[in-house]
Amino acid sequence: MQGQIYLTGFMGSGKSTVARCLQNEYGLTQLEMDARIVEEEGMAISRIFAEKGEAYFRQLETELLRRLSGEQGLVVSCGGGTVMRPENVALMKRNGVIVLLTATPETIYERVKENHDRPLLEGNMNVDYIRGLMEQRRPKYEAAADFAVQTDGKTAAEICAEIVKKMDLNDGK
Ligand code: S3P
Repeated sequence: MQGQIYLTGFMGSGKSTVARCLQNEYGLTQLEMDARIVEEEGMAISRIFAEKGEAYFRQLETELLRRLSGEQGLVVSCGGGTVMRPENVALMKRNGVIVLLTATPETIYERVKENHDRPLLEGNMNVDYIRGLMEQRRPKYEAAADFAVQTDGKTAAEICAEIVKKMDLNDGK
């Protein structure tokens, strides 16, 4: 595979699960941006936000994307906010295909409600807040994406298969 596959979408849209599935089922190498940042900074996402601030975290995302653009053939599971910066989208577009995973606010809520390492949702863990933030971000998610896959009610294997099929079509064969 030339270039990268960048998986984007709202928190809880399934990016990490689908990236792992693409690795296990299709032999691609996955890299989760949040996990790499946690490893490199030696602290959890919530602690980075609390102690260093969101702007610092966003800069780490951009720097990581820059470094990754020198590599080939990775499935990169992005953070939910990565495509909010035009600079990040430009880097991603230059280096691969951007796949948007979508889900309803209700589905997202069910997937993320027990997790406490998402600073943007702490104290806001409800469907209405998720819907509002999703609507606010939707134009940027949609503008960045080469194509979207809806994930509600689907298994990771089904979502992976859809992505692989669409990538083949996108090869123009
Ligand atoms: C964020 C999403 C998170 C993480 C950080 C900010 C966002 O990643 O990068 O908490 O702005 O949507 P996930 O989408 O993997 O939860």
